[in-house]
Amino acid sequence: MTALLHSLALPLTPAETDRLRRHAAAVLLGNWTGAATVPSRTLYPHQWSWDSAFIAIGLRHLSVRRAQRELETLLGAQWGDGRLPHIVFNPAVPRDAYFPSTDFWRSSTAGAAAGAPARTETSGIVQPPVHALAAWLVHQADPAASERRGFLRRAYPRLAAWHDYLTGSRDLGGAGLTANVHPWEPGMDNSPCWDGPLARVEPAPPDSFRRADLVHGDPADRPTDLDYGRYVKLAADYRDRGYADTGHAFAVEDPAANALLIASEYALAEIAAAAGADPAPHWHRADRLTSALVDRLWDAEGGIFRCRDLISGELIDERSVSGLLPLIVPGLPGRVVEGLLATLSGDHFRLGELPLVASYDLKGRSFDPARYWRGPAWFNTAWLIERGLRLHGAEDRADALRAAVLAWAGRSGFAEYVDPFTGKARGTRDFSWTAALALDLAAETSR
Ligand code: SER
Repeated sequence: MTALLHSLALPLTPAETDRLRRHAAAVLLGNWTGAATVPSRTLYPHQWSWDSAFIAIGLRHLSVRRAQRELETLLGAQWGDGRLPHIVFNPAVPRDAYFPSTDFWRSSTAGAAAGAPARTETSGIVQPPVHALAAWLVHQADPAASERRGFLRRAYPRLAAWHDYLTGSRDLGGAGLTANVHPWEPGMDNSPCWDGPLARVEPAPPDSFRRADLVHGDPADRPTDLDYGRYVKLAADYRDRGYADTGHAFAVEDPAANALLIASEYALAEIAAAAGADPAPHWHRADRLTSALVDRLWDAEGGIFRCRDLISGELIDERSVSGLLPLIVPGLPGRVVEGLLATLSGDHFRLGELPLVASYDLKGRSFDPARYWRGPAWFNTAWLIERGLRLHGAEDRADALRAAVLAWAGRSGFAEYVDPFTGKARGTRDFSWTAALALDLAAETSR
């Protein structure tokens, strides 16, 4: 009981909130490289796509100009086919600081037919589309400054092309949802949801690559070598096909990636209107995506959205936090919202009883409280659930989760993720999106 009480967070006092804000700002300033923010100086020393979107949402409270620049740097690395790469490499960082690096992805040559930039090296896969939502939130932080710089007018065509890519070439299931072709794409690399689909993939031999992440991270907190062998094989095959979206050995529909696409599509409608374009196609696409999400991935009995394996055609029998994140979608049927709220507070996730929200079913057969996306609680998913709770009128639960994010972000030293039972820091520290999203919720609190 004592341990449990200790794990629940009391709201911070105004002085504590100020201190947290100063620390979070220091983390973000320390991770700023001049054009973008690294997620972590050690573990992730380049620019990451969905990280930058979450980072911009926090940075807007420190410098709107810098938040715009964060997103513009990423948008500047967009491929001709519309894809936003999941990593934009910083040429000043030594190649062996991160694996897989530029010599692995070879985007400017292997990706040339898909329109990869000639002078910027990137990866060839994507991450969840949080960007239009982030751009809209950055705009709202100072609409006059945004207007003066033409921020939305310049961002709009790129964001629209990004969503066209995701709903066009990446509608691999043919039902209107976007598909992911590598476990890094939904951002939850080693989620137990991918164990089945990955089991079909012959791993690259262990001696054919050298992991850099284990130099900075505790192996118990990171994906296994076997997982890495499969990540490498899938990415190398994609590269060797010129990053063409055919013949994928791994293809899944992920509820969180699609929910973020829908939230961003609504934001894109606002952006279109502000930029003098027609918002209607974006409203319609958001509506169509919402129907497809519910039709294709909702499990009424389980009270959660499931991932779909497009190779077998089956829904994946695992409960991941990804299946709860559609709570951020405004147009969900009432019965779906009720189901999600019940599952969040039920014994698989225990919202309100534990520090944040576990990344995976607390009772699941593959649960591991330390290992990356197989149990630990992350701050970006908590931020999204907080937003979803508020959107659907669950204000008390949203307030409690907001207080928890602020408390655990500070206590953990802005950890990448935390043990879902104890809040103990896991992964790297001074992690940018943890700082950014705490800053965002602290700003909302003081409003
Ligand atoms: N999350 C992956 C990593 O750990 C790739 O984006 O490097």
